[in-house]
Amino acid sequence: MNATFDFTDRHVVVFGGTTGINLGIAQTFAAAGARVSVASRKQENVDFALATLGSGALGLVADVRDDAAVAAALATARARHGEIDVLISGAAGNFLADVNSMSSNAFKVVVEIDLQGSFHVARRAYEHLRKPGASVIFISAPQAVVAMPYQAHVCAAKAGVDQLMRVLALEWGPAGVRVNAISPGPIEGTEGMKRLAPQGPEGDALVRGMVPLGRMGTTADIAQLAMFLGSDAAGYVSGALIPCDGGAQNMLTPMIVAAAEKGGA
Ligand code: COA
Ligand code: NAP
Repeated sequence: MNATFDFTDRHVVVFGGTTGINLGIAQTFAAAGARVSVASRKQENVDFALATLGSGALGLVADVRDDAAVAAALATARARHGEIDVLISGAAGNFLADVNSMSSNAFKVVVEIDLQGSFHVARRAYEHLRKPGASVIFISAPQAVVAMPYQAHVCAAKAGVDQLMRVLALEWGPAGVRVNAISPGPIEGTEGMKRLAPQGPEGDALVRGMVPLGRMGTTADIAQLAMFLGSDAAGYVSGALIPCDGGAQNMLTPMIVAAAEKGGA
């Protein structure tokens, strides 16, 4: 991945940073010279990430649902790499289930990972952030603003993440800490797409048809936006939810497009 920013001597922490989109973000910051710390639940994912991030990176095992584990991981990261310049909170869980087949625990588990986990990560990181100058980035999702069937848990959790981001931008702005969120569109080759989109050529065509730019996103697309938000170039950007989705958030429904293509009324 091409690095277009210089993060030499900056410390970047990525929660949920051991696979997929968040690992892509961690790799891009590492390529731009950052000291990188990544954390997630599974040792094998942490090992996998470290093998791609180079010897300077720090890998930590922590479940974002566990406030004490998050606090301990952040203290270790601070001790190893110093004050945190960029904090990314991207741990998430998802599966398809309509409300009638979703148990109380099924709803709760996603809210606890995505929303409560983001709260733990941000709140526990605050004491370790460089002030002024730090940048906090939440990884949101289109479900936060677009209601989707089979996604009640994620819609509720990610909407909460967006509002948490806005509140923190208000509360931490006076200390010089910027807080923003990225809402990725469909990103190719990720666990999220494996779970939410039909697989195979037909599914690919369906997804591409929802994106005005006509392609799925890549982890590099998201990483480049994260680098911008983490950099001084975004020094006046705070409280912003930024879609990175090829324009999909403004796409007309397939029904309207089909009607227009047939001549419409
Ligand atoms: N449909 C309905 N309910 C489901 C489900 C599905 N496909 N998958 C899990 N659940 C329910 C479980 O039955 C359980 O509820 P119960 O106790 O009432 O039976 C509850 O969700 C918790 O499941 P569990 O497997 O114990 O949770 P976990 O903490 O081990 O794992 C998940 C969390 C379920 C979110 C798991 O999918 C995960 O680890 N995901 C991380 C990766 C990911 O989702 N990436 C995509 C990001 S967009
Ligand atoms: P992914 O590869 O499954 O990434 C999720 C990461 O979170 C993994 O590193 C996972 O590692 C970690 N994680 C999960 N539960 C955790 C917990 N309880 N505590 C700590 N870490 C935990 O998924 P992805 O598709 O790349 O998605 C990454 C982010 O982008 C998510 O926030 C998702 O909502 C968002 N997003 C994705 C898409 C897409 O197209 N894929 C679109 C919109 C938004 P462990 O299993 O080791 O814990």
